[in-house]
Amino acid sequence: MPAPVRGRTRSGGTPPVTDKPIVWQHDATFVLAATGSAVGLGNIWRFPYVLAEHGGGAFLLLYLLMVAVMCVPLMLAEAAVGRAGRGSPMASIKAVAERAGTFPHWRWVGALGILTGFVILGFYSVVGGWSMAYSWYALTGAAQQTDVAAAQQQFASLTGGSLLAEGAWLLAFVAACGLIIGAGIVKGIERSIKVMMPALFVLLLFLVVNSLVVGDAAAASAYLFSFDFSKLGWDAVLAAMGQAFFSLSLGMGALMMYGAYMPETLSLRRAVLLVATLDTSVAVLSGLAIFPIVFAMGMDPGSGGPSLVFVTMTLVFGKLPLGWLVAVAFFFLLLLAAVSSAISLMEPVVAFITESTRLRQLRESAQGLRREGTLAVSLSVAVVALFCAHYGGFFDLLDQLSANYMLPTGGLLVAVFVGFYATKPVEESIPSLPEGAWRTAWLLLLRYLVPLGILAIFLGGLLG
Ligand code: TRP
Repeated sequence: MPAPVRGRTRSGGTPPVTDKPIVWQHDATFVLAATGSAVGLGNIWRFPYVLAEHGGGAFLLLYLLMVAVMCVPLMLAEAAVGRAGRGSPMASIKAVAERAGTFPHWRWVGALGILTGFVILGFYSVVGGWSMAYSWYALTGAAQQTDVAAAQQQFASLTGGSLLAEGAWLLAFVAACGLIIGAGIVKGIERSIKVMMPALFVLLLFLVVNSLVVGDAAAASAYLFSFDFSKLGWDAVLAAMGQAFFSLSLGMGALMMYGAYMPETLSLRRAVLLVATLDTSVAVLSGLAIFPIVFAMGMDPGSGGPSLVFVTMTLVFGKLPLGWLVAVAFFFLLLLAAVSSAISLMEPVVAFITESTRLRQLRESAQGLRREGTLAVSLSVAVVALFCAHYGGFFDLLDQLSANYMLPTGGLLVAVFVGFYATKPVEESIPSLPEGAWRTAWLLLLRYLVPLGILAIFLGGLLG
């Protein structure tokens, strides 16, 4: 990594630090990395069954509405704060607040985000570990089951049996993420994303085509897309919002962080629209990769969740022609999706440590303690994840707390901050947002619909 450039004032005195911000080397990296963050376990096992639970096609419409009117404006706001502030969520918000001449205390919204990222990582790493374990099982042929009890036993002995097995896989998962993050923004994140994302799309495409050819596409689309408006209650609205926030990686600063590394010249508006479209498409495509073969093999998709992906699918692969190949593709897809999401949760935490350990006057530590920070974060995440693995209740608590409360709260605060307190400096980092109708719509949504919508959904949840 090049040494930061240090400037000198003409009049002498203390030279100001002018270390140039680190930016991605390639134009496509922001879109790839943000899509990598968005596309994750949330798309592949959560979306299909949440959709089916809440009325199929009717829920899909609701979800699309949430993405378009609540999430896209917020994504733009988040990424723009990052590009304007060029630091961890906390530093970016502080810098933008200073420029706007408003309270520096807004930076605590960034701190909340960093904490949320840490909390999500805690339980996400557990499922990441399962994905890694099953990728290995798939390679060795052990992810093709023919007996229901044996398939259930396999999952139970990974998750409930010995903490040793589950703990080892979880540690391996966290270590993989830590190695990427520790290698740096360009050499670690950018380089790995460039490999992981194309691979992810190739695997997904293969799985969808295969599933539509050998599977029962008609039964799957009846399950996924039938309109059942009777199931569309208030809890469906809450579920649609929670799912949209979680799936688009909103509300904790992941997009702010990746926006901070985005070159000035690229269109943020186009990038954000592309990421939202890709993420939503992957969610629907995952349903099409899973359900046609589930139905064709005479399986019951049941309540979905972990058991769908880690038990039912192994039984499907046991019966399917080319089962080994499909199993390998499926679990590696899951693993790639999990790793590329987890690094976006880890980077804000590590960036925060890196910048707070950057001793500005000492040249040798101008880069901050990124490696040491990564090690500390990885170890702490592993401890939390081990707790989650051991105590199922703690896993669920962190899951619910972060998705249903911390993310929407973060989103709400960012909307108010950008909408009312720091519109100008944030807008300046979105030159691609044309004046006129687009800008007006964005501001109106951000100022009123997003905060009021989140509050209404919170209240509805409390009352309901
Ligand atoms: N979006 C990812 C998924 O669908 C999870 C994720 C990654 C995330 N980064 C995030 C969720 C930031 C919330 C906030 O699995």
